Amino acid sequence: MFNYQSLGTRAVHAGEKRVKAYHAVTTPIVQTSAFTFENTRDLSEFMEARMWGESDGRSEYGRYGNPTVAATERKLANLDSGEAACLFSSGMAAVTTTLLTLLSAGSHLIMTDDCYRRTRGFVTTFLKRYGVEVTQVPMGDYQAMEAAIRPNTKLILSESPTNPYLRVLDLERVVDIAQRHKLKTVVDSTFATPINQRPLEYGVDFVIHSATKYLGGHNDLLAGVVVGSEYLINAIKETQGMLGDVSDPHTAYLLLRGLKTLSLRVKHQNRIALEVAQFLRDHPVVEQVFYPGLPSHPDHAVSAAQMEGFGGVISFTLNADMLQTGQFIDALQIPYIGPSLGGVESLVNQVALTSYYELSTAEREAIGIKDNLVRLAVGIEDSQDLIADLSQALDAIADLTTLTIDNGLFVMSRT
Ligand SMILES: Cc1ncc(COP(=O)(O)O)c(C=O)c1O
Repeated sequence: MFNYQSLGTRAVHAGEKRVKAYHAVTTPIVQTSAFTFENTRDLSEFMEARMWGESDGRSEYGRYGNPTVAATERKLANLDSGEAACLFSSGMAAVTTTLLTLLSAGSHLIMTDDCYRRTRGFVTTFLKRYGVEVTQVPMGDYQAMEAAIRPNTKLILSESPTNPYLRVLDLERVVDIAQRHKLKTVVDSTFATPINQRPLEYGVDFVIHSATKYLGGHNDLLAGVVVGSEYLINAIKETQGMLGDVSDPHTAYLLLRGLKTLSLRVKHQNRIALEVAQFLRDHPVVEQVFYPGLPSHPDHAVSAAQMEGFGGVISFTLNADMLQTGQFIDALQIPYIGPSLGGVESLVNQVALTSYYELSTAEREAIGIKDNLVRLAVGIEDSQDLIADLSQALDAIADLTTLTIDNGLFVMSRT
């Protein structure tokens, strides 16, 4: 493992060969679907070496490996303090392929309830069809987690921080429960990145990221990764070889390139998100702010102890109804309206209108999603500009007296 202490230095250099093809500074995009052999002897020596796990990253076909993908995997493994990584075509491919490898019919899984909607859907509907049992426990309730363990329980799945309320898992407690009962643990650490949190260092078995978010960092690619021990990652790679949900070399290169600035970007995003959260907390039009960096957050103490920064996502509710909340979002000039996070451009969305659109207000409130809930994922813009923009948009809401729907159009009138 490239052994510089600083994650910033490792983000630039780890995983990449010192001398690259043509003595280029950058790792090349090896854009090929298959790899050739000099002669039959070369082929049989390769097959023999691969059988014993000694092929040193060489592969015969793009679904089983590629040098650009392999360099990106090595860098990701290094940043998360893991032995190995497996790169995928999306974060969901990383989640589904990992769970399909670790679980089989008749096994039981415990999942915290605040998981990404599609992960929850995969577990509760798709895996259920194949005979996997699941128990959802409230995020933060460790007694319920331990009480849910059955003789056939195989693993605990969670996220940290969660979306949209940024709940933070107490990694020490979960690992303690899992190790006492001989269970595997999987933590989706997308919102934290290895710059802010490294679950493997606490004894978690697998860490997953949607690399689409901070790791890529430029809102221009879809990818996912799972990091863990070499032995278990090899098992996941076997499944990937069958499912085929690999990352292509060009996307892997974009990710490798994005990773070089990961430390710079995330530290900046930590800093401006905290400033923005403090500004929002003190604004009269804001009802409540959910950000683990604020002492009012239920997981502030655990996140301060186990994270090096609180991340770039802030959720908040307004003293406003659904339409006024939309009006606030429309008045913003810097963030784009969009569902993702972690890139250089700030993105904002009204949570009730994105992931939970098909539910009624009552159904949404039953699962804790209020109509006036906003999620802001800060980019790398200047914090003073973002605060000025939020301030003018909040002032616009403060001025609103009525907001009605006229023939399907929002009509706003001011005092
Ligand atoms: C926490 C988390 N995990 C996984 C995913 C899925 O990642 P992808 O969109 O790259 O498939 C997302 C996507 O929003 C996410 O927020």
